[in-house]
Amino acid sequence: MPTKHILSTDQLSEEEIFDLFVQTDRIRLPGNRYTSLDGKLVGLLFFEPSTRTMSSFMAAVKRLGGDTIGWSSPNTTSMEKGESLEDTIKTMSQYVDAIVIRHKEKGAAKRAAAVSDVPVINAGDGDGEHPTQALLDLYTIADERNTDKNRHVIFRTGKPLTNKDIDGLTIFFFGDNRYARAVHSLKKLLGLFDVNILEENLYFDPETFSGDASAEVQKQKQSWDKENYIINLGQADVVYITRLQKERWPGGWFDTGSPASRWYAKYQHINKEIHFGTGDLKWMQKSAIILHPLPRTDEMKPAVDSDKRCKIWQQAKNGMFLRMALLKSLFS
Ligand code: NCD
Repeated sequence: MPTKHILSTDQLSEEEIFDLFVQTDRIRLPGNRYTSLDGKLVGLLFFEPSTRTMSSFMAAVKRLGGDTIGWSSPNTTSMEKGESLEDTIKTMSQYVDAIVIRHKEKGAAKRAAAVSDVPVINAGDGDGEHPTQALLDLYTIADERNTDKNRHVIFRTGKPLTNKDIDGLTIFFFGDNRYARAVHSLKKLLGLFDVNILEENLYFDPETFSGDASAEVQKQKQSWDKENYIINLGQADVVYITRLQKERWPGGWFDTGSPASRWYAKYQHINKEIHFGTGDLKWMQKSAIILHPLPRTDEMKPAVDSDKRCKIWQQAKNGMFLRMALLKSLFS
């Protein structure tokens, strides 16, 4: 049987997505105990920082009766001595039953899958993809839109999520849509449905950068089309916010003293104006929701969290349930 890797949202069909959502719905029901990963060991190989993805994968494996080994910093591995990513992965695949990998390089998960003897799940590869984040985002979107109140009762009588819970929606991406891998993967998934995508991009653009950080930031401030932003907020069923992904900017961009780092230092001042805050809530529809893959910096103010349309914590929680469903299906 070929090893099943989860590397990109490209590889998922509508049917597979909704099967996974049915499992996620079931797993969310309180009181159930799972043993599907009994005796299984999952390698959590994180070469980049993570709070939610790593912890929710760890929680998911343990809640399914399995166990994890791995690391959260590459400094403790033999890669510090010059070992290749390939040899590191090949070695780990002798010890574990599946690998979850996060790496700062785009394509790293694919490289890992090429040498691994066990399934590899991409938990974020540079500015490439983050398929499990996109799945939990889409699940949250569909779940929040679905009005069948019975879906989450203990004796499950409700109907499963379908494309009707997604088709027709308008999703407004506000933030660093260029370098956010979560956005890339979610857009690909949304491509399977009949949705409308709106965008407001915030990022440093080297192609148009004049070298004068202050002037550039001023230019960005002036070109900030607040009116259009408000119109987008009013049309959106989902406002999906991301932070500026400065560590993903190409090599050397963000080194101390670089033009990009000077730009970012200035940018933080205009962030006082260009952000999503409580003042923006009034432009949104009553039924709309706010999502953010987190972590957040200045682009979304914590005061927004108390609005009932803000679903970021439910989104994070759904991440654990969805990853449980994914692991369960991988081992079934
Ligand atoms: C995202 C990531 O790592 O790509 N975070 C996450 O996994 N929840 C988004 C980000 O870092 O901004």
